[in-house]
Amino acid sequence: MVVYESYFGCTQQVAEAIGAGLTCYGTVHVLPVAQARGMRAIDVDLLVVGGPTHAHAMTSAHSRESAVDRGADGVSAEAPAYGLREWFDEIEQGAGPAAAFDTRIDASALMTGRASKGIAHRLRRHGFHLVAEPESFLVSHDTLLPDEAARARSWAEGLGRIIVQTPASVR
Ligand SMILES: Cc1cc2nc3c(=O)[nH]c(=O)nc-3n(C[C@H](O)[C@H](O)[C@H](O)COP(=O)(O)O)c2cc1C
Repeated sequence: MVVYESYFGCTQQVAEAIGAGLTCYGTVHVLPVAQARGMRAIDVDLLVVGGPTHAHAMTSAHSRESAVDRGADGVSAEAPAYGLREWFDEIEQGAGPAAAFDTRIDASALMTGRASKGIAHRLRRHGFHLVAEPESFLVSHDTLLPDEAARARSWAEGLGRIIVQTPASVR
């Protein structure tokens, strides 16, 4: 399952590319966070969570409003009060494999920050174990850079390989 937030469409493109990369390993659900709302227990073979970097971190109610003020028309712009932070506050403790990603500006992560760090932290705190380092996919002026969707797809194929090569008993 891939759960994501997206205000201008970049993280959605990445999430869909990740979904495409995972389809050869089984059924994949790619859900905007609003559609994952109310899902308390997460019991999946792999949970991938991603969102845009806002103010060096995961989005907040304030930053999402700023995105909407800037003309965001992505899938999460319709309900900016509910984002990944709120979703993590609602879900129960889990136990399976997981991975975190973000989108951010194409510059040093020291300058931009990375939402995936906060996402990874929350995944661990909820009992999931990360099977890969948090990954960033790069944007410029709220447009995904060329080749980033292809890179997301191959990142996901790598995640799928890790899952199928890990015995179910230690997942
Ligand atoms: C309010 C706001 C704050 C932002 N702050 C940052 C930031 O600190 N670092 C960064 O790399 N990008 C920042 N950005 C750019 C976003 O990362 C970019 O809009 C996002 O990756 C696009 O993804 P989306 O189309 O899925 O919303 C910010 C964007 C907005 C709207």
